Amino acid sequence: MKPLIIANWKMNKSVNESLSFFNQIIDPLSKINSVTTVICPPFTSLSELNKSIAGTNIKLGAQNIYFENNGAYTGEISTSMLKELCSYVIVGHSERRTLFNESDLEINMKLKAVINEGLTPILCIGESIESRTNGNANQVIGEQITKGLEKIASINNLVIAYEPIWAIGTGKSASSEIAQEMSVIIRSKIHELYGVMSEKIPILYGGSVNSENIKDFVSKDDINGALVGSASLDPKSFISIVSESQIQT
Ligand code: PGA
Repeated sequence: MKPLIIANWKMNKSVNESLSFFNQIIDPLSKINSVTTVICPPFTSLSELNKSIAGTNIKLGAQNIYFENNGAYTGEISTSMLKELCSYVIVGHSERRTLFNESDLEINMKLKAVINEGLTPILCIGESIESRTNGNANQVIGEQITKGLEKIASINNLVIAYEPIWAIGTGKSASSEIAQEMSVIIRSKIHELYGVMSEKIPILYGGSVNSENIKDFVSKDDINGALVGSASLDPKSFISIVSESQIQT
């Protein structure tokens, strides 16, 4: 499977800053065709970046959506609006689950909306440090998958990102062994629900990924790429992460 590297900029970069970043990565990344690269900027930068990616191998994603298509939902953005601007959407990031109280039910509705619109959802799952210490990590992950994907018949486009909460933004990534072990558990859960489709689902690792540790992760059999937060904000660091990911090809 072609490695997939997704930049999650979170609430960082103005439109001008986004364009300046893009101008710095375009040449180096245009030479790397063996990795799929996706940038998820804030909503405000999507329109301008969408013009800039024309003719390049870089794809765009959004960091969130609302599940209704349109109507009186002040401040929200729907999948039909995003469809003109990007092809991926992050759903259920742990920051949204915890800071904005997003439930598995809401995440399930968002996934349905994204899939119905023909966009590719990146479903984020991951356990807290307490769940890991108590030995409940597998159960937490299993429930996030089952509830998140409830009554979703087709997962052709699905991407899953395993992001243990204790590794996000902490500078302490999971070991590549733990990430591989959890990816196997995730893939077997998907197999239980969808059969052989599980072989085609990219499973990414996320949580303090940087240019030094990326190779460890992508060289594991069941890890197909990474969701990168802070290390994706600096053009040089991001270029080197994408470049180091060519290992699997
Ligand atoms: P981080 O964030 O790389 O800064 O740990 C990852 C994420 O939240 O997706």
